[in-house]
Amino acid sequence: MTSRLTRWTWGLGALLSLGVAGYAYHYLLPGAFAPPGIAENPMTYPWLFVHAGLAATALLLGPLQFLPRLRLKQPRLHRWIGRTYVFACLTGGSAGLALAMGSTAGPIARVGFAALAVTWLITTAMAWRMILHRRFDDHRRWMIRSFALTFAAVTLRIYMPLAQILHIDPMEAYRAIAWLAWVPNLMVAELYLARRPLRVAQAA
Ligand code: HEM
Repeated sequence: MTSRLTRWTWGLGALLSLGVAGYAYHYLLPGAFAPPGIAENPMTYPWLFVHAGLAATALLLGPLQFLPRLRLKQPRLHRWIGRTYVFACLTGGSAGLALAMGSTAGPIARVGFAALAVTWLITTAMAWRMILHRRFDDHRRWMIRSFALTFAAVTLRIYMPLAQILHIDPMEAYRAIAWLAWVPNLMVAELYLARRPLRVAQAA
């Protein structure tokens, strides 16, 4: 993390992730209930609560893994956070897939969320596989893709109020956002990876 722009981007991303993760953890409080629109999803009980808790953990931990200082100076900590992140993505993503099947917003939203879940599971599993084979550069590339998808939780919550401000029909907006929340994130990650060949220290 060298340039000032990179530091600011990381700080903003981490702050937004913290905010959305903090909001999601409220589902773990006793007596928490699903909001209207989501409560009607037949998968809500128990998958929303499993999903919110685990996916929020991935969102909270993800930004820490991009700190070069932590990676190089505390490799054991980096590994433990990484294992927790992978576990949170794989379990939270599976619960997200179950929820996607039951979304009451119709087939466009169902397929959009399901595609996000499957892509999230694949990119995270690939990142894990690469590190098991000690392919550090590929590991980092797949982790960037995985976190771009984890970050969909943040972009979704930016687009929702934006659609409201723009007076877009909430259901139409929700269907579009089931795709818009993650496809552009993945495109940005791919552009970044194409422009910056990564070289990772073997100590990762
Ligand atoms: C990246 C893969 C993800 C997928 C496929 C996914 C999928 C879903 C689905 C399908 C729903 C229910 C929507 C409906 O019934 O229409 C949902 C709700 C929710 N998800 Fe995710 N999600 C993902 C990531 C995350 C992350 C990283 C968080 C972390 C904060 C998160 C937190 C929540 C919360 C809190 C809800 C409840 C709705 C709300 O209160 O805003 N999700 N998710």
